[in-house]
Amino acid sequence: MGKMTLDRILQTQGFGTRKWCGELVADGEVCISGQVITDSRMPIETAGLVFTVFGEPWLYREHVYIALNKPAGFECSRKASHHPGVLTILPEQFARRDVQPVGRLDHDTTGLLLMSDDGPFIHAQSSPRRHVPKVYQATTHDPVTPELLAGLLSGVKLHDEPAPLAASTCRAVDAHLIEIVLEQGKYHQVKRMLAAAGNHCVALRRTQIGGLRLDQLGLAEGEWCYLDDAQLALLKPD
Ligand code: URA
Repeated sequence: MGKMTLDRILQTQGFGTRKWCGELVADGEVCISGQVITDSRMPIETAGLVFTVFGEPWLYREHVYIALNKPAGFECSRKASHHPGVLTILPEQFARRDVQPVGRLDHDTTGLLLMSDDGPFIHAQSSPRRHVPKVYQATTHDPVTPELLAGLLSGVKLHDEPAPLAASTCRAVDAHLIEIVLEQGKYHQVKRMLAAAGNHCVALRRTQIGGLRLDQLGLAEGEWCYLDDAQLALLKPD
């Protein structure tokens, strides 16, 4: 990774402008290995660097890859309008380093949401050519019927879509709950597919992306974690 001056390191990690970061250092608010560093122009090796700002420890990360257990009532758009944005759930450093949601969940959808500041990663994950299965649990207004499951599996025609869209797999979990797996990520896809199949989605939760399962991350709603290389590898298509 190489060396960088401390003010630049702090800037890349979302602590503010370079000038502001230089002042943080000069004020003695930044420590490395228990030592206060006051020279913001000191070149420092970034690989494995742990530093503290106002006593809080941070590991230098070139990019961040985050899984959030999204609660209802938060928007994924960058300029949230009707509800607070999901970035308000994370430490403010993340918005400053341009962390963004990878794809979108509706404001009332809960569950697994990836976030990152790695542009190529976001682009690759969001590509329609990348057939990564996404697993949803949808609570239905009307009871689940064999016809509903068969319709979702064989494909339903959505307005504005040239061809019918089908679930990869779909099963009843209980009388009003289905698990549906999709490889596309069209606008409101689960809700629109359920409506087109003659039912209505009253609650939606994403539980898995590729091989990455929300229940294995141990996150309560509103909690987030960094993803490591092994977890990121689970997001690759088969
Ligand atoms: N499908 C939907 O309808 N909404 C989501 O948030 C995700 C998938």
